Amino acid sequence: MKDYIKLDEWKIIEDHYNIDHNEVSESLCSIGNGHMGQRANFEEDYSGKTLQGSYVGGVYYPDKTKVGWWKNGYPEYFAKVLNSVNWIGLNIEINGEILDLHQTAKITNFYRELDMMNGILRRSFSCEMKNGAVVEVKTQRFVSMNQVELGVISYSLSVINMDAVIHITSYLDADITNKDSNYDENFWLEIDQFSNLERMSVTTETKKTDFVVNATVFTQIEQNGTYITQPNAYGTHDKYANQSFYINTKKGEEITLEKFVVIASSLNHNPLEFEQNADSILNQAVFKGISQLENEHSAQWHKIWNDCDISISGDVAAQQGIRFNIFHLYQTYTGRDSRLNIGPKGFTGEKYGGSTYWDTEAYCIPFYMSTTSEEVARNLLVYRHNHLGKAIENATKLGFKDGAALYPMVTMNGEECHNEWEITFEEIHRNGAIAFAIYDYIRYTNDTTYIAEYGLEVLIAIARFWSQRVNFSEEKGKYVMLGVTGPNEYENNVNNNWYTNYIACWCMDYATECYNKLKETNPERLQEIAKITNFKESELDKFYKITSNMYYPENKELGIFLQQDGYMDKEQILVNDLPTADRPLNQKWSWDRILRSCFIKQADVLQGIYFFEDQFNLETLERNFHFYEQRTVHESSLSPCVHSILAAKIGDEAKSYEMYLRTSRLDLNDYNNDTEDGLHITSMAGTWLSIVKGFGGMMVKDDKLHFTTFLPTGWEGISFKVKYRGRVIAVQINKSGAEIKKESGDSLSVILNNKVVSL
Ligand code: BGC
Repeated sequence: MKDYIKLDEWKIIEDHYNIDHNEVSESLCSIGNGHMGQRANFEEDYSGKTLQGSYVGGVYYPDKTKVGWWKNGYPEYFAKVLNSVNWIGLNIEINGEILDLHQTAKITNFYRELDMMNGILRRSFSCEMKNGAVVEVKTQRFVSMNQVELGVISYSLSVINMDAVIHITSYLDADITNKDSNYDENFWLEIDQFSNLERMSVTTETKKTDFVVNATVFTQIEQNGTYITQPNAYGTHDKYANQSFYINTKKGEEITLEKFVVIASSLNHNPLEFEQNADSILNQAVFKGISQLENEHSAQWHKIWNDCDISISGDVAAQQGIRFNIFHLYQTYTGRDSRLNIGPKGFTGEKYGGSTYWDTEAYCIPFYMSTTSEEVARNLLVYRHNHLGKAIENATKLGFKDGAALYPMVTMNGEECHNEWEITFEEIHRNGAIAFAIYDYIRYTNDTTYIAEYGLEVLIAIARFWSQRVNFSEEKGKYVMLGVTGPNEYENNVNNNWYTNYIACWCMDYATECYNKLKETNPERLQEIAKITNFKESELDKFYKITSNMYYPENKELGIFLQQDGYMDKEQILVNDLPTADRPLNQKWSWDRILRSCFIKQADVLQGIYFFEDQFNLETLERNFHFYEQRTVHESSLSPCVHSILAAKIGDEAKSYEMYLRTSRLDLNDYNNDTEDGLHITSMAGTWLSIVKGFGGMMVKDDKLHFTTFLPTGWEGISFKVKYRGRVIAVQINKSGAEIKKESGDSLSVILNNKVVSL
């Protein structure tokens, strides 16, 4: 099943019907526009395996935590991205029999494609029904990038071997549950529904969070060049509305149903305005017609591609992989709405129900920072500043004080909403990524205002947390950090995770550096911040005392940093020695066995070396890379990209390429056997990083932009663009080297393969 999807530079293609792959294909071919998204479910009834999924950005439900034994400090709930109103649904009855691909006598052809260049999902099939009718269907849909509340479906159907009586019921169904609901609860309350000769509409409200969502539809059918705009029947019941059309067709005659849908939420409208808003969007949409709407939508995609496409020549699998990743990132988050963030499954599934993880800071911000306006990355940072109060509350609940902040591992509104304690309590390294993202943003954009405006408050609160989280070990004569989980979730409650100790100290040092800089450049603002945060300069001494005397586990003999205390006591088996039948470990081994093993889920020590690349020399990187790569199973999607970038740095081109393919085709080839639950959206930014920071070797060092390039064997060329400090820079890597051009903006000098180039 791994090479199931056909290779194509711009399309994701499935060219036959396969019931076992259906849920994976539904994830792969999902459509979205930052405001909403929809899995590639069939419009008509389907009784085979499917995960129905329609999602609206920012609408969530706090699903009460489910644990065997409640303990103080557990988060009350796990936030769920809600499966919302099904707006694509059509019941189709042909000569008295329901069209359902799982029930037909024969499917003679089936084709589904996601056209990434234009942002359109298409599907076609022919089938023979049990009643002998041979039916041909062609359908396409998109959620508009131009008018984000609009979804459009065009569904063409013909019965090719007989005259037919066709009943089509177009419906909205908001009586929807989440498959991952903790208590099988339905999260939606009925508010209102109506259906008449012109429109149908359903409005529902989430329990507890009170988000109101409305879907309003106009449906019409084209037959023989004439539009039938009024249904023959219509009706409603709880959270449901429909409109039915009864049509007689001649043998071979095609009819096309067009469904225009507006999905709006109370995040953007007063619910009293829903009807007026829907009317105005629908009137305009119907007036323009599907082909104009499609052109406007595609034009938006062409603009996105113009800025952020990566073109690879000589390797279609790699080309398809990177475009697939860029496409889904922009379907998930466009940066237009600063209240939203990038959920690990985007609009493609329910798992990882919360919206924001450390994934945003560690992986996604660098992608958005280089491919769109700087403001988008800034907004993502400000999102965390907006949650600072809640992060302080969160730390206070856990016993920290004096304005120390612990950001949540998963959040929708600043509150912690992940309910596995190993992760929630112990994976405190996420605080470090949030501080690191501020540093990375300023280093890249040179936005010197950010620290004074927002950054320092966050950095102080994070540094305070670390200064309270460490303790002094009399035995070691050093500060230590006990009971944490590093990025490697295959071991919990470890002491002195090297990565966490390192980033904690780095945060305290960086907060100090920013404080001192602001003291020089803007003492008035510093005073204000000191007042707001109640910060005394003596706290800097405490930070220094800790950072200058912190304990870091190492193995001097091997010359490596140790993942944590006691790591070398583990039986040292290598990934290469693992039987394939044992992989992925998280599906094949007991949890107990995983915890005791030396296997590492994802980059951990190496994550630190990757972040702080200019603080370690090449030999140190090489030793650590070789040691940890042999023990890392990459069972988090966030892992291979970091290894790919580091392998490029040490010149291991084959490994770098292997890891690139693994990240870029993780979902396309379903490497972790979990794509049916949804795509790994945040790690898709990692794929982009593998090319731009790995093969392109992009980094900012000493305030200069560097590129150190290589071309994987077998490739003919790579080209990409980055936005950097008001310029657009185009990089082209080919067999004879690399070229760099400035497409817009002021002159600049960059370092390309160790030579200064003036642009
Ligand atoms: C990873 C975490 C990540 C989460 C969401 C987990 O499998 O171990 O690091 O934050 O997925 O992507």
